[in-house]
Order: sequence, then C-alpha cells, then structure tokens
Amino acid sequence: MTTSSAPGKVYLFGEHAVVYGEPAVPCAVERRARVTAEPRDDDRVRVDAGDLTLDGFTVTWGGDVDERPDVDAPPKLVAAATRYVDEAVQQTRAAIDDETQGFDITVESDIPLGAGIGSSAAVVVAAIDAATRSVGVELAPETVAERAFQAEYAAQDGQASRADTFCSAMGGAVRVEGDDTRTLDAPPLPFVIGYDGGAGETGELVASVRDLRERHSFAADTVEAIGELTRTGEELLAAAADGGLSTDRLDRLGELMDVDHGLLSALGVSARSLDAMVWAARDGGAHGAKLTGAGGGGCVVALDRTDGTERSLSLTPECEQAFRAELATEGVRVESP
Ligand code: PMV
Repeated sequence: MTTSSAPGKVYLFGEHAVVYGEPAVPCAVERRARVTAEPRDDDRVRVDAGDLTLDGFTVTWGGDVDERPDVDAPPKLVAAATRYVDEAVQQTRAAIDDETQGFDITVESDIPLGAGIGSSAAVVVAAIDAATRSVGVELAPETVAERAFQAEYAAQDGQASRADTFCSAMGGAVRVEGDDTRTLDAPPLPFVIGYDGGAGETGELVASVRDLRERHSFAADTVEAIGELTRTGEELLAAAADGGLSTDRLDRLGELMDVDHGLLSALGVSARSLDAMVWAARDGGAHGAKLTGAGGGGCVVALDRTDGTERSLSLTPECEQAFRAELATEGVRVESP
C-alpha cells in the first residue's frame, strides 16, 4: 500500500492568453490530494473517494464487475471522478507494462472540486505516482507529469493544457508556453484564496474569448498585453527568488495581478462574485488580487502575508470559503511507502 500526494495550483498570471501562445505562470499551492493505491490480485479497479463529496462513494469496475455506487453523490461527479481515476490507472498500466494489474484506490482531497485550482490534476498525478510505486516502479516527476497530462487529455476529450498536471507534479512556480513547460525559481508567495462555491465552464469561456478576439482587435491586443505582463512578472519573480520578497516586490507583483484581472474582465471572463471577492481582498489589504483559471465563477487568488485578506474575504457574502495556501515548493511526493 502506497500513499502519494500532489498539490493544487493557481494561476499567478497568464490564463486564457496561454491558449494563444503567450506564456502563463501557474503556481502549486499547499492544498493536496492524497491517493493510496494497493495492488489487487485481479484486474479490477475499486475507488473509494470518501472526501470528494459530503457522503463519498465507492465504485468498482473491470472484469465482469461494474458496480455503481449506492450513494447520494451527484452521478455527474461520480462519473467524472471515475473517469480520471480510470485514465490514471491506464497510464499506470502502460508505465509498469502490465495491462491487467488491478488496484484499490483511495482518494482524499482538500482541494475544492471543479473550482479551477487543479483538483483533478492533483488526483491524477498522485494516483499515477502511488499506483506505480505500489508495484515497485518509481517514475521521475517529469514522467508522472507527462503521463498525468495524457490521462487528463483523455478524460477531458482532448481539452487539457499541460499547466495543471506539470505544476502539480513539479511543485513551485512553473512556466508554460505552448508545449514548453519548465520550472521557475520563486520566493515563498503568500497566497490567499477565495472560493465562491461555484465553477465556470472552461470550454465555453475559452470559446467566448476566441470569438471576441476574432471580432475585435482590442481583444487580440488584450491577450498580448497579458503576455507582456506575464513576462514582467517572471522577471520580478526571478529577482525576488534571488534577492528576497520585499514589500516593494510584493506590491509590484500584486499590481500586475490587479492589471491581469482587469484585462481578463475586459475579455469577459470575470463574474460578479469574482469581482466582489477581488475587491474584498484589496479592501483587506492584499498586495493584489485576480481571478484564477477559466473564470466565470470559482476562485480568486490574492497575495497577503497578514490575515487581513482572509478575514475580509470570509466576511464577503459572495465568498463561501477563504483560505491561505502558500506556494507548495514540493510537487508530487510519497506520504507513506
Ligand atoms: O480553470 P482551469 O484551471 O482549468 O484553467 C483554465 C485555463 C485556461 O487558460 C483558460 C484554459 C487552458 O486550457 O489553458
């Protein structure tokens, strides 16, 4: 039996623009999915996802068994979670060169589901790492990242970027530009996250930006401007990794986050709840705040070393959950061998 964990992520800069070849900087955050894998004597897969929903569920499939769970969990959620784990198991089987190995998989996650902070990527990354290790195969984090990307790509019908899985496997701040993924040196960023309890439809939001960009040159310019501020942000991160995260550097990173949020709003992907949380964070003393991920609902991310932002967010009606989630320097890791 092996347990591995992997972190969720926020976008410090660059979501949406990354779709058009601009760079983006996702950062892993200290909210983890923990997956335990135990090899079985048959070719079945059993998933126990106790913490994914309020009631949790258990699903078994493979061989002649296809037991659907007898629980209150929404069927859509169960189907999605099952698909991610199934694809992770397929990748594990390919990695260990045994197409019939079965597994008992237990998932525990403290990353809000479907909120744009990388819950599915973290589960897939941790599942591949735990399942391969449980049969004595150790993969490098880069290999886990690649296999997790393939799993997400299959589970999301070809609609997945490498950002979430690479960031979750490697940890820290990373840079994504097309298929080019690399890790960045970054200082310990004091992230605070606000969650409105909802989620946006990534596919629809990406399509709406594409449409706007085709009809208006200002939207193409806006996408380029996001790319430019992301590059400036990268330089600031590098300087702060070398010379320390001074208040002045936090202010300048925060300023870029504020501008990024404004540009994303101009592209039409913010929402009333996200704007309310961004302003609550700023009122609470955040150095800067922006939506993270596709938008439309879900999460905002702010920078603040004090507890002012978290307090202000938790007093905001649009915010269902506010929590601190520092930069996770470690990506996928073994919790118990
Ligand atoms: O909401 P998330 O975390 O899946 O992020 C979507 C990020 C986009 O740039 C909007 C789309 C993408 O695939 O990069």
